[in-house]
Amino acid sequence: MSKKTEQMCCCQEMSCKVDSQGILPDSIVRFIETCKKNPEPQSQLIAVLHQVQDHFGYLSPKTMDAVAYLMEIPAAKISGVASFYHYFRLVPAGKFHISICLGTACYVKGAEAVLNKFREELGIEHGETTTDGLFSLEVSRCLGTCALAPVVKIGETIHAQVTPDKVPALIGHYAALAKA
Ligand code: FES
Repeated sequence: MSKKTEQMCCCQEMSCKVDSQGILPDSIVRFIETCKKNPEPQSQLIAVLHQVQDHFGYLSPKTMDAVAYLMEIPAAKISGVASFYHYFRLVPAGKFHISICLGTACYVKGAEAVLNKFREELGIEHGETTTDGLFSLEVSRCLGTCALAPVVKIGETIHAQVTPDKVPALIGHYAALAKA
């Protein structure tokens, strides 16, 4: 490799590092630096991705590339992990984020039928957002209000004893709120 080429690579790498640090907040960059001191830094990848998702609301290609660069892990591995686990979102959440509890108490009281009704009414699968950006859907494991099962959380509001026949009215309520 010529000297000139070496210098170009070095500059490009420096620029990429600066960009990556600019994309992620300082707290996450510092967390990654701490993880890299671990003998198995890759074992911290899920924890890092959780921090990125908590900060941005989802994992964009840009933030995953930044994590890949800073953790020195191939970008393909990062996107593979992000797509494998249902709790990682690859698209921005909707204005109203719907979380359907599929924990045991909710499941035995019919939560799966509730989930299916939301899927049918909204035309999306869990992990997706409607094209108008209003609703996004995810499943969760126990929202901590088992006595109210089956439970659906929309935004910060818990809806108790939700049945499939209540789903259209719930969606209609939030769609009307968006227009108000
Ligand atoms: S199992 Fe659904 S709230 Fe606990």
